[in-house]
Amino acid sequence: MADRYLSFTGTAPGRLLTRRLGLPQPARLRRWSAEQPTLQGRLLHLTAGKSDLDLAPVLALAGLDLDLVPAGSALDLGTENPVAVVLDATGVRDVDSLAEVHAALHPVVRSVAGSGRIVVLGSPPDPADHHQAAVQQGLEGFVRSLGKEIGQGRTVNLVRLTDARAAESTFRFLLSPRSAYVSGQVIEVGDGAGAGAGGTGAPVDWGRPLAGRTALVTGAARGIGEAVAATLARDGARVVCLDVPAAGADLDAVAARLGGVALALDITADDAGARIADALPEGLDVLVHNAGITRDRRLVNMPAERWSPVLDVNLASVLRTTDVLLSGGTLRPGGRVVATASIAGLAGNAGQTNYAASKAGIVGLVRSLGPRALSEYGVTVNAVAPGFIETRMTAAVPLFIREAGRRMNSLAQGGLPVDVAETTAWFASPGSGAVNGQVVRVCGQSLLGA
Ligand SMILES: NC(=O)c1ccc[n+]([C@@H]2O[C@H](COP(=O)([O-])OP(=O)(O)OC[C@H]3O[C@@H](n4cnc5c(N)ncnc54)[C@H](O)[C@@H]3O)[C@@H](O)[C@H]2O)c1
Repeated sequence: MADRYLSFTGTAPGRLLTRRLGLPQPARLRRWSAEQPTLQGRLLHLTAGKSDLDLAPVLALAGLDLDLVPAGSALDLGTENPVAVVLDATGVRDVDSLAEVHAALHPVVRSVAGSGRIVVLGSPPDPADHHQAAVQQGLEGFVRSLGKEIGQGRTVNLVRLTDARAAESTFRFLLSPRSAYVSGQVIEVGDGAGAGAGGTGAPVDWGRPLAGRTALVTGAARGIGEAVAATLARDGARVVCLDVPAAGADLDAVAARLGGVALALDITADDAGARIADALPEGLDVLVHNAGITRDRRLVNMPAERWSPVLDVNLASVLRTTDVLLSGGTLRPGGRVVATASIAGLAGNAGQTNYAASKAGIVGLVRSLGPRALSEYGVTVNAVAPGFIETRMTAAVPLFIREAGRRMNSLAQGGLPVDVAETTAWFASPGSGAVNGQVVRVCGQSLLGA
């Protein structure tokens, strides 16, 4: 179901009318395209507090296609609008240095280009220093609030890190059109220790980071799964597309289009993990658990027949197949598991006790298994938590609820399947070995559970 309101506000009369009526003004987001794969313009590097981070070499990366304006340089904000700003606030340790965050961004924020990016860098809160912990936590509130007020398709995210090099893949994602629908997020990047093969080392080719790797995507016959398979194939992966036998024709078409392989299999089958392992004797690098279903009813009206399948598809099969593919060695060192949560799992949603329990379960899985899978198998485990994404699943939502879901986020529009796919591709990158145990919402900073 196309977003007609977004199309209407893109016209001159639509803009005028909606502005007069005080209605939301969604901007047309700039997403990745083969013609314009990167943001182009100035990247302004600012600092607040005394930072020890060696950021300049990472920000100077040619791959970003951004002209770096180093910390301390003067920029004529009247004529030289930055398209991206990185504010290094890792050295903010007290309320006085937190004021430097305000001082750095206050004069700049108005001039950031439409669909531009602001990335604030913070340090992990220090359990031994409650002043540092307080102000570093303060950055979260700052970033989330700025994301809600900045508008024009601009995004604001917080990255907590200790080693700038380990965050290179994260910079490349957040400072690009690929992260168009990711805003108001807090992402922790580790130091990459124990990241396994291809952990923090740069991939051979950032343009095709998954070249030579095999990725399996469940629920790949349509919707978000189809976009994930296509995006991983764009990044060079050989894709194995899995879906239920009933979706066989669509599945075959997707696999053929992407030069991949179709695997018609119900993921809830007891032997699903073993059958995937059999189909991949040479091993697997990226496992994307995307298949999911809803069977909505309020709990008072929900018979067990509507509870069990949702928990089985969305959570139990994810647990079972991950266990089999990890312990059996199908997932190779340097491997990546990306599961699919949902903002309903974070916020709760009336009529979705089953679905929200399954999706919150994914969050629990990622947080528990992530650190262990990395140290034992060299495999990272992360999750995307989509908000309102334009798919058949959301097209089936009643009109008014659908319209509210689309608008009630900082970008005032629904996301596209490709937005979830790009986030998955960032997690899946060989360069993302230091990104582990994270749940990143792809929701345009939805008000739900914010
Ligand atoms: N669309 C959204 O707004 C949204 C929001 C939050 C989370 N999600 C999650 O994203 C994922 C994809 O959602 P979508 O909107 O593309 O859904 P969709 O219904 O369009 O596609 C889901 C796919 O999973 C497949 N599938 C279902 N059960 C399966 C099984 N037992 N074995 C193998 N494949 C199976 C279906 O055949 C289908 O092709 C789901 O996990 C969903 O919960 C979607």
